[in-house]
Parts: sequence; C-alpha cells; structure tokens
Amino acid sequence: MTQERWTAVDRYFTDLLAPADDALAAALADSTAAGLPEIAVAPNQGKLLHLLARVHGARSVLEIGTLGGYSTIWLARALPADGRLISLEYDPVHADVARANIARAGLDEIVEVRTGAALDTLPLLEAEGAGPFDLVFVDADKVNNPHYVSWALRLSRPGTVIIVDNVVRGGRVVEPGPDDPAVTGTREMLELVSREPRLDATALQTVGSKGYDGLLLARVVG
Ligand code: SAH
Ligand code: DHB
Ligand code: MG
Repeated sequence: MTQERWTAVDRYFTDLLAPADDALAAALADSTAAGLPEIAVAPNQGKLLHLLARVHGARSVLEIGTLGGYSTIWLARALPADGRLISLEYDPVHADVARANIARAGLDEIVEVRTGAALDTLPLLEAEGAGPFDLVFVDADKVNNPHYVSWALRLSRPGTVIIVDNVVRGGRVVEPGPDDPAVTGTREMLELVSREPRLDATALQTVGSKGYDGLLLARVVG
C-alpha cells in the first residue's frame, strides 16, 4: 500500500466522520500562512483525541506541544463549559498563531497557551497547584518524551489518560542507536512506561495522510 492510498482512505473517513468546519479549516490555513510546519494531527486523529476525551468524561486537559492549536481545538471541544485546557508551547510565534486560532474557535475561555520550554513551564504548573489533569496529550520535541511522561504522571490522578503522539515515525522506533535523538527519546519513554507500575499502556501503529506513525495510550492505575 502506498502513501497515496493511505491519504485517499484518510480523506474518505475524514469527509464522512470528521469534516472540517470554519474554525478548524482556518486554524490550519492560518498556521500554514504563518509558516508553521504542517505536522498537526490529521483530522481523523484529532477526532480520535476528541472522542477519547469525551468517553473519558475529561474536564481538564494538559497538552505539551501546541503548534497552531489544531489538536488543542479538537480536545477543548470535548470539554464542558467550565473545563480547562492548558497547552505548553516553546515557540512564541506558534503560541501566538494558536491563541488566535483558539479565540476564533470560541475556546479562549477554557484554553490557555503558555509559552516556554515545557521542561521549564511544567515545574511552574506544579508549583501553582495545577492538576491533576484528566487527560494529557504529549506531542512536542520527541527527545524529551521520557521527561514529559514523568511530568504527566506527577500531574495525574488514578484514571488519568496519557496519550503520546508519533511513537513509530516510519518504523524507526525499532532501530535503536544514538543517531536519532527523537527515536532514542521515544524508546526511553516506552521502556519507562513498561517499567512503571502506575501505568497500564498499549501502542498502536497508524497509517494515513501523515504517513506511517503511531500513538501510545496509557492509563494511570490507582
Ligand atoms: N499538537 C499539535 C502539533 C504539535 S507539533 C497538533 O497536533 O496540532 C510540536 C510542537 O511542539 C511545535 O509547535 C514545537 O514548537 C513544540 N515544541 C518543541 N519543543 C518544545 C519544548 N521543549 N517545549 C514545548 N513545546 C515544544
Ligand atoms: C513531527 C512532529 C509531530 O508532532 C508530528 O505529528 C509529525 C512530525 C516532526 O517533528 O517532524
Ligand atoms: Mg504529533
């Protein structure tokens, strides 16, 4: 099967089940216009995040890696009116684009985008007593994935759902070696999760408009 076919099937599913609306389409268009990389989750993946948050009954979400706020919008739309989503973004240009996209989607009352390296802003979050979060979506620099999952655990409660994006990367996850720090970080994260008695997890491979990749889904046990 080819990338062309994966993209066609994703388009078919997306048109039927996760069609864009004005706010989602504008979020992607303005992200591209501002020069952001086109690496947001695919529409059907965004819808998966949304549905996972919904079936979980999530009221609070922590996202690490905002980009233009596309996944943020999908997740925030799963929350009740008094819900809360905090999204951490290193790049101030990305954060500004995301804030505008989130405001246009009518979600600025429940979403806060915080600028800075997540390893700097996560301790601040903890210090101010934020959390525990019901769901954490990890989708930033892959080299720090072990740290992000450790922080997700610190800011969790029994039952918290943790999702990590991009754990396959074209299959490179099974090529250990020091040459690709993103792969090394993802493998260290997976080994950490496997050793961690407070986490119960699985990982899935995906194909689609974003190529061959996958995600980790974990639940914090009591
Ligand atoms: N979740 C987004 C995509 C995120 S792309 C979506 O699916 O729509 C990854 C983002 O993580 C980029 O915007 C990048 O600037 C940000 N990032 C990279 N390193 C980071 C760090 N150390 N702390 C916080 N964000 C970081
Ligand atoms: C990259 C990052 C992502 O979060 C993603 O979903 C796809 C690609 C990247 O850094 O290349
Ligand atoms: Mg990603």
